[in-house]
Amino acid sequence: MYVLGIESTAHTFGAGIVEDGKVLSNERDTLKPASGGIVPREAAAHHYRLASTILKNALDSAGIGLKDVDLIGFSQGPGLIPALKVGAQVSAYLSEKYMIRRVGVNHCIAHLEIARACTGIDDPVMLYVSGGNTQVITYLGGRYVVFGETEDIGVGNLIDKIGRRMGIPFPAGPKIEKLAAAGKKYSSLPYSVKGMDVSFSGIETYVSRMPGKDSAEDVAFSLQETVFAMLIEASERAMAYCKKDSLVITGGVAANARLNEMGSVMCRERSARFERIPLEYAGDNGAMIAHTAYLMRDYKQNDFVVKPRYRTDMVEITYR
Ligand code: ATP
Ligand code: FE2
Repeated sequence: MYVLGIESTAHTFGAGIVEDGKVLSNERDTLKPASGGIVPREAAAHHYRLASTILKNALDSAGIGLKDVDLIGFSQGPGLIPALKVGAQVSAYLSEKYMIRRVGVNHCIAHLEIARACTGIDDPVMLYVSGGNTQVITYLGGRYVVFGETEDIGVGNLIDKIGRRMGIPFPAGPKIEKLAAAGKKYSSLPYSVKGMDVSFSGIETYVSRMPGKDSAEDVAFSLQETVFAMLIEASERAMAYCKKDSLVITGGVAANARLNEMGSVMCRERSARFERIPLEYAGDNGAMIAHTAYLMRDYKQNDFVVKPRYRTDMVEITYR
């Protein structure tokens, strides 16, 4: 069974093909504005401009044509409405034209499912960290339950905002990671963990008022050490509470080596298992949507309206 997955929730337009759960191709392009953050209208224009090329590349590198596709999955939410609409419209058009069934996929669940699939860990605690989302999740009774989450902004969003102030264009994560690796001096930042919830806006304000004595490397270092420690503390608490002995980290920020190192050290200390996900599947991509659509293949759906506020725990999981 060939499944095409289309991702378009925010900055990235992606298309991926899976065959019976195995990824055959994963093509994407990310909008990188010259300055400032992502403007929803500009994201949609980017997606419309690149959709047909990215689709063609995904089909070509999988070695199939649209006529071979058995199911289409598209990101139904959460995300920016204009951007979401591109994936919904492209998938509706292909579904009509080639008579292919389609399913709407929750973008957050797709980040979780691709992490389970590529680490081979069936029932971990999952730390889902991206631009818009920061959640500590585990599977319980037919749903992915959110045990802890950010009370304000996502951790990727915090990194991007601080990066922007330092003159680093979106997405700032990779550059901040490089700077942090050269940092030497730790300045303490507001550390805010409440149970399994975290809060980041205090850090943003604090960094914006720092007197400027710290180098960019030291600010990046202090930022990473503080926020990643908060995230790993919340994850460890969830593991103890749920009696789970494994952890995976997923979402765009899961690309960060230091975050993975902290997760792996914490797991080693409690004799738990930790597996890092491949870089290719950390950020937004079409293969994760195709993979999740494949899992949902028996699901009969007739509500295809985009859902900008579609939460992880709103989805009833029928395939587990
Ligand atoms: P979601 O809808 O899941 O919130 P998203 O739109 O934020 O997704 P992702 O691709 O999942 O998109 O995540 C992008 C975020 O990941 C950006 O904030 C980016 O700065 C951050 N990021 C990417 N690479 C790294 C890295 N190496 N270190 C830290 N953060 C990173
Ligand atoms: Fe994402």
